[in-house]
Amino acid sequence: MLDKLKNISSEVTSEINAVNSAASLEEFRIKYLSRKGIIATLFEDFKNVPKEEKGAYGKELNELKNSVTKLFEEKESSFSSSQEKSDIDYTLEGRTYNEGTRHLISKALEEISSIFVKIGFKIYDGPEIEDEWHNFDALNTPAYHPARDMQDTTYLDAKDIDPDKKYLLRTHTSPGQARVMLSHKPPVRIILPGKVFRNEDTSARSLSQFHQVEGLYVDKNVTFADLKGTLDYFAKQFFGDSLKTRMRPSFFPFTEPSAEVDVECFICKGEGCRICKHTGWVEIAGCGMVNPKVFENVGYDPDEYTGFAFGMGIERTIMVKYGIPDIRMFYENDIRFLKQF
Ligand code: DAH
Repeated sequence: MLDKLKNISSEVTSEINAVNSAASLEEFRIKYLSRKGIIATLFEDFKNVPKEEKGAYGKELNELKNSVTKLFEEKESSFSSSQEKSDIDYTLEGRTYNEGTRHLISKALEEISSIFVKIGFKIYDGPEIEDEWHNFDALNTPAYHPARDMQDTTYLDAKDIDPDKKYLLRTHTSPGQARVMLSHKPPVRIILPGKVFRNEDTSARSLSQFHQVEGLYVDKNVTFADLKGTLDYFAKQFFGDSLKTRMRPSFFPFTEPSAEVDVECFICKGEGCRICKHTGWVEIAGCGMVNPKVFENVGYDPDEYTGFAFGMGIERTIMVKYGIPDIRMFYENDIRFLKQF
C-alpha cells in the first residue's frame, strides 16, 4: 500500500510539470483533488489498510494530500499572474524617445575654448548684466560713441541696484577684459566665452542675442605678430587648412591698431552671395593691440606692458564651419537641424 502512495507521489510531480493551461490544471484538480478524485479515494481505502500499516499509511497519505494541494495552488497562482501580464497588448507599437544632445553652440564654445586652453589661455566668465562703465568707459568708448546709442544697447531699469550706475545687457564680452585686468596683475592670458545682447532687428545674419569668445593677452613685449600667429593657429585648428583667412584694418576704440578677421565664405567659396554680401568673405572677429588708454583705465602701466585682444562671434564662426545659411536656425530648436551636429 505504501508503495502505491510513493508511485502516485512521483506521478503527481511529473503531471503538474506538464500542466500548461487553465484547462489542463482543472483536469489535474479533478483527477487528484475532487470529491471522487485519487486523494479522496485513497482516504476511503484507509479502512482496508492492515492494522499494523495504518500509522505509516495515514502519515504518508496526509503528506501526499498536502503536497498535491500545494503544487496545485502554486500552479494556479503562477497562471493568474501570467494571466495579468497577458492583458498587455504586446503588438502595440512602442513609444520612441529622442535622445537629447548638447546644443551646437555649447559644443562650439567648448571646442573653441579648448583650442585656446592648449596654448595657455585660462577661461574666465563675466556678468551678462553689466554697468556702463565696464561695457563702454573702461574700454575707451566715449559717451558720444554710436555704440552707446539706444539702438544697439538694451538699458535696464535698475535704479534700485545702484542709482548712480546705468545698467545694461552687455553688448559684447569685452567688459570681461576690464574686469580681469582690474583683478589680476599682468601677465594675463584669458578667454571669456559668453552671451551678448544687441538691440537689433533679426535677420539671416544677425540676432538680438548671440555669443562671443573674447581673448586677451597682456605681457611685456606682446606684438601684433603674436596676435596674427594666435588667430592663424585658431583658424587652422577650427576650420582646417582649406578655408582662407585674412585680416583687414578696422577701428575699435579699445584697440590700436585694430583689425577684422575674415574667413572665405563657406556658401559661395569666395564667389559672392547673400550671406557674404557679395564680398566672398565673412567676418568672424574683431581684434587689435590693446589701446594704452584701456591700460590706464584698469591701472596697468602702458609703458611696461603691451597686449592683444580679440572678440569672435560664435554663431557666425559656426556658420562658416558647417555652411549654415541662416543665423536664426540656431534658436528655432528644430530637431532635424539640431541632430545633425
Ligand atoms: N567687442 C567687439 C564687438 O563686439 C569685438 C572686438 C573687437 C573685441 C576688437 C576685441 C577687439 O577684443 O580687440 O564688436
